[in-house]
Amino acid sequence: MSKQPEMILVGVAWPYANGEKHIGQVAGAYLPSDIFARFQRMKGNRVLMVSGSDTHGTPVTLKAEAEGITPAQVVERYHPMFVEGCLKMGLTFDLFTHTDTQNHWDTTHEMFLRHLEKGYIYKAVQKQLYDPVAKRFLPDRYVEGTCPYCGYPDARGDQCDNCGRIYDTLELINPRSKLTGATQLEVRETEHFFFDLGKLNEPLLEWINQDKEHWRPHVLNFAKSQLERRELRGRPITRDIEWGITIPLEGYENKRIYVWYDAVIGYYSAPKEWAQLKGQPEAWREWWEVDVNPDVRSYYFIGKDNIVFHAIIWPGMIIAYGGLHLPYDVPANEYLNFGGEQFSTSRGRVIGFNTVLRDYQADAWRYVLTALAPETSDVEFTWQEFVDRVNNELVANWGNLVNRVVGFAYKRFDGAVPTPGPLDETDQALLAEIRQGFQSVGDLFQAVKLKAGLTEARRLSQRVNQYLNEKAPWHSIKTDPQAAATAIYVALQAIDWLKLIWAPILPHSSEQLHAILGYSEPLFGRQYTQEVEDARGKHLVLRYDHSPATGRWEATTLTPGQALQKPAPLFQKLDPEEVLAKELGQPAGGE
Ligand code: MF3
Ligand code: ZN
Repeated sequence: MSKQPEMILVGVAWPYANGEKHIGQVAGAYLPSDIFARFQRMKGNRVLMVSGSDTHGTPVTLKAEAEGITPAQVVERYHPMFVEGCLKMGLTFDLFTHTDTQNHWDTTHEMFLRHLEKGYIYKAVQKQLYDPVAKRFLPDRYVEGTCPYCGYPDARGDQCDNCGRIYDTLELINPRSKLTGATQLEVRETEHFFFDLGKLNEPLLEWINQDKEHWRPHVLNFAKSQLERRELRGRPITRDIEWGITIPLEGYENKRIYVWYDAVIGYYSAPKEWAQLKGQPEAWREWWEVDVNPDVRSYYFIGKDNIVFHAIIWPGMIIAYGGLHLPYDVPANEYLNFGGEQFSTSRGRVIGFNTVLRDYQADAWRYVLTALAPETSDVEFTWQEFVDRVNNELVANWGNLVNRVVGFAYKRFDGAVPTPGPLDETDQALLAEIRQGFQSVGDLFQAVKLKAGLTEARRLSQRVNQYLNEKAPWHSIKTDPQAAATAIYVALQAIDWLKLIWAPILPHSSEQLHAILGYSEPLFGRQYTQEVEDARGKHLVLRYDHSPATGRWEATTLTPGQALQKPAPLFQKLDPEEVLAKELGQPAGGE
């Protein structure tokens, strides 16, 4: 019964290249997308997972001004930093690029011109805040004030961090300039291009009301309630700034495209670059063009502040363009908080992604951040919980199970998988239950309920621990070696399956265990970086080559007699005092 592989496009929020990313963003978007992508590949489906650094916009120019360097230098500093973090964390982007590439500029220009030609972009005079002290317009993050919707006092010029709504800067209450602190701001007129979201309100409403039962309620409700108000209207998509993608028309040389209009186009441009790099320049079409392939499902992994862009604006841009796949799901996460507040790169309160990977194992983070995943509500991160989860769950439950079974087999059965005698009911029941994990955990992963998938995998691992305690092969080996051999075989078989079930969450340790169990082919493919040169210069990309991978989401039979490798512990136990002193004794690091 062979099934056609499904095609799964995984889009992951494009991180601003304006600082070290933090573990809240990893928990929110980067890690869940990778777990999902690895699971889908193990299922035999075809996956294309893309993202890249978001190089434009006021988050980058503000950083450049703060540091006295150019925006391009900001990008050169932080883009490779994120790539390095992804490599260490094992985030298997088929392509991670950035938005200051010739391909992305060309694709953005093409989409802009098509939207213009089809009547979805119009020109209008807009009122903008102007700082008379700095003598500059104040786009987006150059101004802060009180949110017109929820009253949050530190709302940014283009979006409120508290309620996630977007608005025109002029709607901010008590606006103040981030450049000079001025509160006596002028309103000046300037001409801009607008994307006509108003025209798309009805088509978007129709789309959001179709087959969305699998969407997370908080995402669906956010999008639905805005669309049902029927208040969408044109949004300016150009700015009076010098950093960003140019407008592909004469006479607008001093303006640039708004970062959010270009960034989401990355989901469409990155597959083109991926296809180029593969030497099959047309291969992107089957991922995007409905005519070429109607059966693609696209998932967008993001944090909740990005919902409006992925569940309203980007789908609107896709509809306006025509012929492309709309999102199948937008499994946005809520926030991982720290000390009761959001992490924030631009506000300097972070636990840094690169920093934590220098001191702790990638799989420890992958485990804890999945156990804490803010899938349905905000979740508080504490270092105490990090230590507890690593020591009491990852090490005590799964790590120790592996250590004691594989260690015992290696020592007492000549370094090989023992040959079992006949299986009794307890043996068979255990194996049936663990085998069933491919179904139960698989269903949860398929539904992007990764946290519940982890809980189920942990329950199954615990079952094997119970089984061993019951069988106590370390006793029976003296009196009934055949019974001990059977129990160890059954436990090894269960571990061999659990290795696969854990693999999307814990790829590094599963790969290590796979080798210890005596397999010579890898579970997963290979990640590598590459320098690419185009008309805009050089840029670093991260790629993933899936081809040597053998990890399949299915229960295979462990061969008696298979030679084991000398086992080494999969996970490091943490010293609580050391960790707490180190992490809480000094202020959280990062840019
Ligand atoms: N750069 C944005 C952020 O960090 C996310 C952009 S997602 C994209 O919040 F879709 F626009 F690319
Ligand atoms: Zn608000």
